[in-house]
Amino acid sequence: MYNDKVMEIFQNPKNVGELKGANGIGTVGNEACGDIMKLYIKVDKNEVITNATFKTFGCAAAIVSSSVATEMIKGKKIEEALKLENQQILDYLGGLPDNKIHCSILAKEALEAAVKDYRKRIKKQQKAKTKTGKN
Ligand code: FES
Repeated sequence: MYNDKVMEIFQNPKNVGELKGANGIGTVGNEACGDIMKLYIKVDKNEVITNATFKTFGCAAAIVSSSVATEMIKGKKIEEALKLENQQILDYLGGLPDNKIHCSILAKEALEAAVKDYRKRIKKQQKAKTKTGKN
């Protein structure tokens, strides 16, 4: 069902677990199957994603896609990372079975949610600084 590359990554996925010091966390659910994905990003002051990890209650395709996606976005600026297309993940993996393609979309959606969370936190911080008069 899965090709060798997918199986290899599934047996040794990268960036699994919570990320200490993450300043953006996105949680999304897959309507098709009910599985959940949580993506953590650490963004520096230049808006570069310096680290990314994930946790998922999902299938092998979701785990493998998230592993690849976190590797692809690390070291990229947010704007660049958001351009990540699902097809790039599928190409890297050499494809997924048709009925598993929806699983790979979770990673991109979780990234978008994590960036949203990051932006919300930054806004909140800026507001707090303005209130206290600090810059
Ligand atoms: Fe739910 Fe793959 S079947 S993420």
